[in-house]
Amino acid sequence: MDITQFPSWQQLNSLTEKMHDRHLRELFAEDPQRAARFSLELPEFLLDYSKNLIDDEVFVNLLQLARDADLEGWRRRMFAGESVNCTEGRPVLHAALRGGLPGPVSVGGVSADALVEGELSRLKEFVNLLHNGALTGCTGKRITDVVNLGVGGSHLGPEMVIEALRAHRCQEVQLHFVSNVDGAQLADILAQLDMESTLFVVSSKTFTTSETMTNARSALNWFGGLAPQAELLRQHFVAVTASPEKARAFGIEPQRVFQFWDWVGGRFSLWSAIGLPIAIAIGFEGFRALLDGAASMDRHFQQAPLEKNAPVLMALVSLWYCTFMGYPAHAILPYEQALHMLPAYLQQAEMESNGKSTTRAGEEAGYATGPLIWGMLGINGQHAFYQYLHQSPQVVPADFIGSVTPGHQLPGHHEILLANMFAQSQALMNGVSREQVETDLAVRGLGAEEVDRLAPYKVHRGNRPSNTILLRKLDPHSLGALIALYEHKIFAQGVILQIYSFDQWGVELGKGLAAALQPQLESGDSHNQDASTAGLIDYYQRVTAG
Ligand code: F6P
Repeated sequence: MDITQFPSWQQLNSLTEKMHDRHLRELFAEDPQRAARFSLELPEFLLDYSKNLIDDEVFVNLLQLARDADLEGWRRRMFAGESVNCTEGRPVLHAALRGGLPGPVSVGGVSADALVEGELSRLKEFVNLLHNGALTGCTGKRITDVVNLGVGGSHLGPEMVIEALRAHRCQEVQLHFVSNVDGAQLADILAQLDMESTLFVVSSKTFTTSETMTNARSALNWFGGLAPQAELLRQHFVAVTASPEKARAFGIEPQRVFQFWDWVGGRFSLWSAIGLPIAIAIGFEGFRALLDGAASMDRHFQQAPLEKNAPVLMALVSLWYCTFMGYPAHAILPYEQALHMLPAYLQQAEMESNGKSTTRAGEEAGYATGPLIWGMLGINGQHAFYQYLHQSPQVVPADFIGSVTPGHQLPGHHEILLANMFAQSQALMNGVSREQVETDLAVRGLGAEEVDRLAPYKVHRGNRPSNTILLRKLDPHSLGALIALYEHKIFAQGVILQIYSFDQWGVELGKGLAAALQPQLESGDSHNQDASTAGLIDYYQRVTAG
């Protein structure tokens, strides 16, 4: 049944008017227990969702909407390995990569756990060889630098995690990432490297992505005549892919091809062999701890009742804003330097999953299915775009993310950092009333006329909602739980809004057009193009021709 036909949906629609007129200040004043009632403590973190524009009536209807959407049924089917990615005809089993399934699941007659464990032990062996110095390049030099060539899901997760776990890095090997087909990035990194001690990881689920394959070919060419090509490929290249036959056809040794499977979506793949750079950077045990943390969130998501279920609560709050209240964006604001790539990572995870407008029934949705995700480190954002968050007419709900324990030894910094994080969510919630502004200006000795002139600029309406996720400590386990929290939030939101979260047809169109345009850019033949594109090709031709 169409989700918009349920009474819970209609009820929520009718509640938006009332909630637009409520203020978070009032909701807190009316209920001294609000913070406790709308908070959830898990072993890894505290989720405080009390600063959201929801009251009991909204909350009850949101939970009812989740039940009406059969979220529990979809959740059970996903973890049972049923084909919930229906447009691609695949199960969705990234939880299997971290031991998060409730029981054995086989895909095509093969146990998913057996496949996963087999590949994990290959990764472990490889990482140990690398760390022990047993892997050498074709001139016998020890491998000291590893360059990951991959884009999107084959890049963002590993780099984000390695940055987040800087404090846990092993010193044996340096990691580098090249995702852009703009040769400036690869050229810059190659200039820092010694080819005799460099290993490339070609990470691509499909092993056809033009950016990655172009970078892989340029990396191979970089070695010049150092050794015959077959030897270069053997000693200096490994592949991570769900298309092992293509990696072998590229020339990579079969024992250097690490595999994952089409039941792992690209943006959910960091737990698979795509996480090889993570295991190299923090050691295999650290990688295991990351997987364990994610598995603990898998269990929580499966077992906790909806009203105490962190991913479900975050999904409900998110869809309340984007689908019902009309707030189209959502900011991710980490107050932890190490999490500086989290906003970019979550942009792909969430927007590639839920940026859709066709329902499971193949109809136009007619409602917003997910917010525009953006953000950056909170402290830097405070001095960049928070003005907009505080005083723009547009309301942007936000997630504040920090950790109680600092990842460094410098005294005094962490309290300032966390004080800023708490203060910002408080300021967004409470704002400053005209009355308060007038009093403050008068206390500063300003005359009545000046007070009247300045007051409107200084008023903050407040009532800007946020979640706060406060980790006990940022470590591999808690990071795994945090990422899985968002993964399941994304799934829950997609299920409730009746879209398929695990395909990404929207990125295919541009890929196809780029492939067709490339030869035209070279030849200058723009005859079949629209006038704007033809003009761009012509300009390119004129400038390159000098
Ligand atoms: O950007 C689109 C996309 O298809 C993502 O879903 C994927 O993570 C990325 O390209 C990279 O794809 P591949 O791993 O196949 O190279």
